[in-house]
Amino acid sequence: MTALLDVADLHKSYGAMKVLKGLDFDVRERETFAIIGPNGAGKTTLFKVLTGEARQDSGKIRFRGRDITAEPAFRRVHSGFGRTFQVARVFPELTVEENVVVVIEARLRAEGKRIGRWYDLRPAAAVRDEAHALLADLGLAQSSTIKAKFLSHGDKKRLEFAVMLGGRPSILMLDEPTAGMSPSERVAITQLIRKIKTEREVTVLMTEHDMGVIFGLSDRLMVMNYGQIIAIGTPEEVRANKTVRDVYLGQEMYHA
Ligand SMILES: Nc1ncnc2c1ncn2[C@@H]1O[C@H](COP(=O)(O)OP(=O)(O)O)[C@@H](O)[C@H]1O
Ligand SMILES: [Mg+2]
Repeated sequence: MTALLDVADLHKSYGAMKVLKGLDFDVRERETFAIIGPNGAGKTTLFKVLTGEARQDSGKIRFRGRDITAEPAFRRVHSGFGRTFQVARVFPELTVEENVVVVIEARLRAEGKRIGRWYDLRPAAAVRDEAHALLADLGLAQSSTIKAKFLSHGDKKRLEFAVMLGGRPSILMLDEPTAGMSPSERVAITQLIRKIKTEREVTVLMTEHDMGVIFGLSDRLMVMNYGQIIAIGTPEEVRANKTVRDVYLGQEMYHA
């Protein structure tokens, strides 16, 4: 089976500090693959290198067997990378619906489809329908006319998901999707990720602090520490791993 994403001997430094020290792993089609590890382990840096936001020093990244190591970020988005950020990024002055319409139109344009004329003030009906369906799906139908800047943190996150899904990515990159959330919002976002995963059959690559979230969602986990991989496996395998236990000694993992 070809991996969706195949990473080989990936290195990245910031100045003298080695942040990624030769990572080798692959992510399979339609699995939920989680990256965990203490703060500063290099998880976000790995995300940035995978999306093309940051440049590796050396190593190879393949997407569906194709070498994308030298591709810029926007081209990776066109190849099917969708990502959310640790801090939600949406257009604050646009409404919820407008945010989603913008991304759907961008996708259709990238696919070479006609979506109406540039002087049309309203989005085409097909775009509007897709936007409404997506917002309903994510529980944002009631908020569609609200400016994004007025949303609660949880709803902002939902909008960020909607914006990402509007681009129809084949891999969702979620960097700590529940960061800064209350326990109930965490549960809601976890359910949302599970729903997206089953309904849309996407591959999910995520980092997360909350062990309950991680062990409940992922098919496989990769544990990082100081820029290295210390374990890869199913949640059960990782939980039983001695090195992982040492790194997380006394932490919430035991109660997950
Ligand atoms: N842009 C940057 N410039 C310099 N150092 C950075 C930069 N980004 C991250 N680092 C450092 O790289 C290390 C890994 O950071 P990060 O990838 O954010 O870890 P994690 O997401 O696992 O918490 C940390 O020591 C951090 O301070
Ligand atoms: Mg991080």
